[in-house]
Amino acid sequence: MSSAEIAVKTLRRLEPEDLRVLAVIELDMSRHRYVPEADISRLSGLTPKQVNYRLQRLSGFGLIHRWVGPYVGYALSTVGYDCLAMNSLVKADLIEALGKPLGVGKESDVYDALSPDGRRIAVKFHRLGRISFRQTRRLRGYVAERRHISWLYQSRLAAEREFEALRIVHPHGVSVPEPIGQNRHVVVMSFIEGVELYKVSEMRNAEEVLNEVLENVRVAYQKAGVIHADLSEFNVLLKPDSHILIIDWPQFVRTDHPNADVLLRRDVENILRFFQRKMRIKRSLEDILEHIRHINMGFAS
Ligand SMILES: Nc1ncnc2c1ncn2[C@@H]1O[C@H](COP(=O)(O)OP(=O)(O)OP(=O)(O)O)[C@@H](O)[C@H]1O
Ligand SMILES: [Mg+2]
Repeated sequence: MSSAEIAVKTLRRLEPEDLRVLAVIELDMSRHRYVPEADISRLSGLTPKQVNYRLQRLSGFGLIHRWVGPYVGYALSTVGYDCLAMNSLVKADLIEALGKPLGVGKESDVYDALSPDGRRIAVKFHRLGRISFRQTRRLRGYVAERRHISWLYQSRLAAEREFEALRIVHPHGVSVPEPIGQNRHVVVMSFIEGVELYKVSEMRNAEEVLNEVLENVRVAYQKAGVIHADLSEFNVLLKPDSHILIIDWPQFVRTDHPNADVLLRRDVENILRFFQRKMRIKRSLEDILEHIRHINMGFAS
């Protein structure tokens, strides 16, 4: 069972005091890697004896880690953080039930889920800070100066960034999942059926698909002032109706970002490389960049 699945199961067994202690540990983790037991007592308003009882329960459920150093301290586990986020999202009436995993990777776990009004939604848990060169690259720019960046903070920041990007580009008609909600490291969005482009080996209308990807890049750039900055065949879904969807936005930048040109170029290059290699379509990178950066009417093939 994955962390999110364990969290959902465990959530049902938690009592309000368990959640209160969990939230206090989360809060104090901005100051301590391991939160001292005395702080938990003070901040939760529970007696030391009550706190001790809650800490044992939470440890037993695997929601916190106990650390013994110069003092005894506690830190949230991934499951503990998932519990806090799921509790808030359920209380906010955004999620009714978590379903099957859609993609469980290094940097996120995405689940099929149901909203209280019966809508099919996608729930993305960001998981950063687990040593990866790629993550460091993706995060560079928005967490540059902090020396110790906890996984908790990185993951929440990634979710906030992704939700922000979706909220900016979606109203402009860029083909992305509809943003529904966000809490901590979790983003809730509309579910879209589709296959990642890299898995598609045959396309009848490859020219149109390519045009549609580039047109979305152009609208995001021109109308929303946003560059995806991690665009590739891994982050474009091809829907059953042959239209596309661009996902995975936490590393977006604004078009006034100092690296905007480099990032836009890399995004477009990745897409063109894929279509050239797999679909034998050749386009001029420079012409396309010109199209994207300047006002005009879409892409001729
Ligand atoms: N809104 C959605 N609807 C349906 N499926 C989705 C949605 N968002 C993401 N997915 C699925 O989850 C997968 C991973 O999503 P995404 O690209 O956003 O995360 P990631 O950060 O790249 O994760 P990873 O670490 O696995 O690479 C996608 O390839 C897709 O299959
Ligand atoms: Mg991705």
